[in-house]
Amino acid sequence: MKQTKLILIGSALLASSTFINLAHATVIDRATILANTCAGCHGPNGISNGPLTPSIAGLPKNYISESMYDFATGKRPSTVMQRIAKGYTDADIKALSDYFSKLPKKATEPKKTNNHHGHNH
Ligand code: HEC
Repeated sequence: MKQTKLILIGSALLASSTFINLAHATVIDRATILANTCAGCHGPNGISNGPLTPSIAGLPKNYISESMYDFATGKRPSTVMQRIAKGYTDADIKALSDYFSKLPKKATEPKKTNNHHGHNH
């Protein structure tokens, strides 16, 4: 039967991803999953594309967590961040702050050939 076959494939996939998760289960993986929510607005890797949303990659860890708490309480005014910040536990905020603070501020741009500064190797 078609249906049984699908279920079998489904559980095989589940089983293999569980295996992968077990091998790599760390706090970072949890942060990566949490960070996916932020990527929709702040861009993948925390670099935002538009002027409406600030980039958050490479911000100081304390600054990120403080912002999240201040958004949640309304101490810091926001359009959307209050609603978002309220949905996270202390542990989540810690993991997210850690995650985004460690990302590079800007994607490294391809190096232009420029011998101007005398770095000829
Ligand atoms: C719906 C879009 C959206 C999502 C999703 C979102 N943000 Fe934001 N974020 C914003 C906007 C817009 C601002 C500017 C403040 C405001 O108006 O809310 C902001 C501001 C911030 C700031 C302050 C940056 C600064 O330079 O002061 C931090 C930190 C931040 N967001 C973290 C996060 C984290 C962490 C997540 C994921 C849990 C997240 N945001 C998810 C839209 C979003």
